[in-house]
Amino acid sequence: MSEHIVVDVEERVMRIRLNRPAKKNAINGDMYRAMIAALERARTDVDVRAILFVGSETCFTSGNDIGDFLQPRSTAGADFIRTLPQVEKPMVAAVAGPAVGIGSTLLLHCDLVYLSENAYLKLPFVDLGLVPEAASSLLLPRIIGHARASQALLLGEILKPDVAYAWGLINEVVPVGQVEAHALSKAKLLAARAPAAVQATKRLLRRAEAASIAETMNLELVEFTARLTSPEAREALQAFMEKRAPQF
Ligand code: COA
Repeated sequence: MSEHIVVDVEERVMRIRLNRPAKKNAINGDMYRAMIAALERARTDVDVRAILFVGSETCFTSGNDIGDFLQPRSTAGADFIRTLPQVEKPMVAAVAGPAVGIGSTLLLHCDLVYLSENAYLKLPFVDLGLVPEAASSLLLPRIIGHARASQALLLGEILKPDVAYAWGLINEVVPVGQVEAHALSKAKLLAARAPAAVQATKRLLRRAEAASIAETMNLELVEFTARLTSPEAREALQAFMEKRAPQF
């Protein structure tokens, strides 16, 4: 497992904390595998009724570990992405600081999302010579409309909390320093409610999109995997590692 994923359970809420501060909580293969294992435990453990994703007060996550993108591809990230829509128990996210890449697309699969005033979302797939993942190419235009999804996905523009709220992407913006406690209190409310009714309602809320989410994830992953070894992506990823601007 990974020391960078810290899991605990409090009042029937499983908290999954991204904890790799030296790399801005960038997610590597071991961290994906640890989160998959936690979600699997949540699935079978009757004492877990809600799941909370959280980072630190200054950083949710800088997304996939860019160094890992340059290594021979592991399937851990894809496996984690495919797990998300299968989770039957409600998922809540407490986001402070940057939520980049998978840090943003993960939120589309959460049932309640709270952003600190210091948070922002960013989907820099095209910046990296890549394409969207986690069915964000389907879910984002559905939630925020095509024009805004193009802003976020083609231009990779940062989405600040007030914008994310106005566009219907998140539930609430919370003062700095309070987002984890606030989101945890909401997760505890969910955990105290009739569990079968909560899960059935989640299933009904997500039912209409389930098949197209799975299909879109597959299409995205084929394209994403092919693009990872493209000259564009190699240049963009190498440029990040070398702390320079890419030349396309
Ligand atoms: N993968 C691997 N390492 C990462 C990383 C990532 N996604 N994001 C940050 N890091 C590392 C940096 O290389 C740096 O390492 P170093 O101290 O050994 O040089 C360290 O984390 C701190 O990052 P830094 O960029 O200096 O922090 P910042 O506060 O100035 O910026 C971010 C934070 C998140 C805005 C910035 O790190 C960033 O843009 N990261 C890449 C995001 C990204 O494109 N992710 C992929 C999405 S698909």
